[in-house]
Amino acid sequence: MRVLSVVGARPNFLKLAPVDRALVQSQEVEHIVVHTGQHYDREMSDDLFHDLQIPPPVINLAVGSSSHAHQTAAVMQRLDPVLAELEPDVVLVYGDVNSTLAAALVAAKMGIRVGHVEAGLRSRDWTMPEEINRTVTDRLSDLLFVPSREAAANLLAEGVPESRIHFVGNIMIDSLVHALPLARELHAAASMGLTPRRYTVVTLHRPSNVDDPATFTKLLETMGELSQGGPVIFPMHPRTKACLIRYSPANPDFRILDPLGYVEMLSLVATAGLVVTDSGGLQEETTFLGVPCLTVRHNTERPITCTAGTNELVTPSRNAILQAANRAHRRRMEGGARLEHWDGAAAGRIVEVLLTLRTPRHQAALETAIA
Ligand code: UD1
Repeated sequence: MRVLSVVGARPNFLKLAPVDRALVQSQEVEHIVVHTGQHYDREMSDDLFHDLQIPPPVINLAVGSSSHAHQTAAVMQRLDPVLAELEPDVVLVYGDVNSTLAAALVAAKMGIRVGHVEAGLRSRDWTMPEEINRTVTDRLSDLLFVPSREAAANLLAEGVPESRIHFVGNIMIDSLVHALPLARELHAAASMGLTPRRYTVVTLHRPSNVDDPATFTKLLETMGELSQGGPVIFPMHPRTKACLIRYSPANPDFRILDPLGYVEMLSLVATAGLVVTDSGGLQEETTFLGVPCLTVRHNTERPITCTAGTNELVTPSRNAILQAANRAHRRRMEGGARLEHWDGAAAGRIVEVLLTLRTPRHQAALETAIA
């Protein structure tokens, strides 16, 4: 059986790593990884593969940055001959980035089974490119690997047959569980001169927060104010850096850094007093770690992180953020929140499902035709 994974952007690599490990361990599946090249900077790509201890992909489509339409189209055009030549039995796609949607479209039209890892998340905010990507990808997928029961319920409500939905758990937590011992040994906070629980980690990169200069400047000023109460560390995504015009923090305790490696970032987040973010992955990681998190968004496709207690949504306004930051310590959960199947074993469950598909190729085609 041949499985081909398509990944393109930083959060995809974190989801790929445990699946790759579990597939290699099974010794029953040939696993080929295709990198679309959506993310290409060393810190955003190569370093991650190194940190996650997965071999660098042999095939790189090198699509790079451009508009959503161009980027999606470039992935489709360049993936098409690869799939035609390699004829995988299943194409796995991850999360909600442009590469995910593009790969799902190409594979589905070729009649290849599509498996979506992290299916069923919904923010119900159609202005987010990720919401469009994940919803359409789910519609195209034959195997929907969901991280939570609420994600399964979202799919059922949209009419997805139950037989396609597999509650395997949260794949991001697999990567976290794998890397946490190493991250704890790294003592990233100490090496930056920080006292555990006395500092804030910030990541912001969503268009809604950084593209409009007025909103972004306000957010930076608010982070500057926050740093008067303790250091604020902001590892900055390249798209955010591109928006950073004429701002340099007045307070040396507001530190803007290049993107960090996965293990170093995990180490820093694990002992943070507070995380302020608009990332999906960090909402989940802080939940598992029990670290208070403020998500600077009007909605989240991961409401379970709010009901679990660690995460709170805040609007991108100074007062909302500073007030929420003041009461955020109440959101700390010693030992972290333990959610069903957020246990480091999601990839194993995905592979179990994949192994049930080991039918001869013509039989699979027949089944699809009958369905
Ligand atoms: C993408 C995902 C987003 C995810 C994020 C994680 C989509 C629609 N969005 O957003 O869901 O949370 O990745 O990082 O797919 N750039 C570089 N170097 C890189 C990559 C990007 O400089 O290695 C810059 C370029 O200026 C580019 C911009 O960042 O134009 C945006 O990159 P892109 O891959 O289009 O989307 P992200 O904002 O990274």
